[in-house]
Amino acid sequence: MELKITCIPGDGIGPEIVAEAKKTLDAVAEKYGHDMQYTDILMGGASIDVHGVPLTDEAVETARSADAVLMGSIGGDTTTSPWYKLAPNLRPEAGLLAIRKALNLFANLRPAVLYEELAGACPLKTEISEKGFDMLIMRELTGGLYFGERRTTEENGVRKAVDTLTYDENEIRRIAIKGFDIARKRKKKVTSVDKANVLDSSRLWRAVVEEVAKDYPDVTLEHMLVDNCAMQLVKDPAQFDVILTENMFGDILSDEASMVTGSIGMLASASLNDTKFGLYEPSHGSAPDIAGKDLANPIATILSASMMLRYSFDLDKEADVIDNAVKQVLKDGYRTGDIMSDGCTQVGCKKMGDLIVERIK
Ligand code: IPM
Ligand code: MG
Repeated sequence: MELKITCIPGDGIGPEIVAEAKKTLDAVAEKYGHDMQYTDILMGGASIDVHGVPLTDEAVETARSADAVLMGSIGGDTTTSPWYKLAPNLRPEAGLLAIRKALNLFANLRPAVLYEELAGACPLKTEISEKGFDMLIMRELTGGLYFGERRTTEENGVRKAVDTLTYDENEIRRIAIKGFDIARKRKKKVTSVDKANVLDSSRLWRAVVEEVAKDYPDVTLEHMLVDNCAMQLVKDPAQFDVILTENMFGDILSDEASMVTGSIGMLASASLNDTKFGLYEPSHGSAPDIAGKDLANPIATILSASMMLRYSFDLDKEADVIDNAVKQVLKDGYRTGDIMSDGCTQVGCKKMGDLIVERIK
């Protein structure tokens, strides 16, 4: 099979982790006779440095013409990098938001799984972590506060800033349908997270999710307020299967969910539209403090590449091979610094990639 993939190495540790993900994809391609065709585009700070903007129209078109996009990470140190002296719409993150919107990637899937081998890195008490957990956060990605009108003004010498949180029922319905579809293939439970005790947008969210649920009698639906969900994630993460939520809540809860797995360095994500097209990226950031030092954990990006094979190309067997190679490496005791624990062997980013490739071959 021919796979046309656009890569966005990006900033910080991005280029290192994408290189390792490509290595694993190449190993799978060799084993199963696929033809991977990569085209790189610039985004974030890397694009600002060359083009003065975080994403060009040409880059969007290149991404659009591929079957899928594999991304590393974008952004720099927000206190020291010159990128953050630019107007907000010209900063690295604006490139990421723009590509999500341009490609209509409204459904963001962030699986958070506690690997048996990493149970020691889980910050929760043993009586909680020993139950294990396997949840998927389904985050709405192209609406809400991120894309509402915003402005900063000054009235009578008083500065004022406004951000607006808007959802229409169609935006809610399409993400809810994705959530229920995925739940059907998993443990058949959807926890819809909102702030319906305060926000109108959440009350509409809840109403539309209830409507969608009627078509999925085999899936259990529960509603949870976002503050309670933040608490439940550390109290009893095993209760969750699919967490369905709006953009901002999903941003925050997915970082929390990833941390209870032991490290955000393990968390993959997929951002999908209505077709098979998707953008795949680790849930973590660009970690400028360790960039270029061969210290980054490439596993989240490698698992994102596996999600790409599964969701955009229906190559489940190939994806399983990558997932199993990652599990095997962990079982064999190899760790990057972020997940290091006593008795294990610490390795760098490149070596971790090599070890995973060895187990794919
Ligand atoms: C994420 C990131 C982005 C977001 C930032 C970099 C704009 O935190 O993908 O979770 O808030 O969506
Ligand atoms: Mg985030």
